[in-house]
Amino acid sequence: MNKTETLKDGSPVVIRSLKVEDLDKLMAFYAALPADDRKYLKVDVTDKNVVRRRILLTEQGNVFRLVGLVGDKIAADGMLEVREEAWQKHQGELRVIVAPEFRRKGLGLLLMRELYFIAAERGVRMVVARFMRPQEDARRICRALGFREESLLPDYVTDRTGQAQDLVVMAADMNEFWNELESYYHATDWQRCQ
Ligand SMILES: CC(C)(COP(=O)(O)OP(=O)(O)OC[C@H]1O[C@@H](n2cnc3c(N)ncnc32)[C@H](O)[C@@H]1OP(=O)(O)O)[C@@H](O)C(=O)NCCC(=O)NCCS
Repeated sequence: MNKTETLKDGSPVVIRSLKVEDLDKLMAFYAALPADDRKYLKVDVTDKNVVRRRILLTEQGNVFRLVGLVGDKIAADGMLEVREEAWQKHQGELRVIVAPEFRRKGLGLLLMRELYFIAAERGVRMVVARFMRPQEDARRICRALGFREESLLPDYVTDRTGQAQDLVVMAADMNEFWNELESYYHATDWQRCQ
């Protein structure tokens, strides 16, 4: 996919699939994140080999990666991982991260909307988000998009500093997710005025 959308501040953003040639741009995106954001990520994004291997996962067919580009710069990274095991085949895990200077401009929402379309095409019926308890923005946006808290696993994961953290698991039915996404998308002058 490759499409151009408009952010709330009027700047154009290209949303397209992530390619292996984007590795250096992606490393620059991760390097510019505040240390506090990197601290809670699932993998060590300062390690180029780890990041390259994660991009190559998209060749397996159940992992989809999208990026938002403003000019030549990656401003956001989104991922949908459709579960492969038979008992979880109806689930898709969503992850979105937006560079601080592009937050609250609708970019997170635009990426989630595109990831929703991919999930719907793949027959996903439940979207899941997993993050560490201190990731309050993730929790707020998930609540606003119709996710409910499924579980909180105490000291289940380790952050980049080696400290144990609680893992929050939230999930939403695809219909609820779509309804909330659409009400955000259409409720703002930002999209109406395009
Ligand atoms: C969570 C995150 C992806 C949101 O991206 P974004 O581009 O800023 O989100 P949007 O501008 O599309 O926001 C859509 C709506 O979500 C809600 N929202 C987003 N960030 C919020 C925040 N910090 N506090 C409260 N509500 C928030 C708002 O309702 C917002 O609409 P509004 O700005 O019109 O009020 C971004 O803050 C981020 O990358 N955080 C760090 C990484 C992370 O936690 N990722 C999620 C892991 S699944």
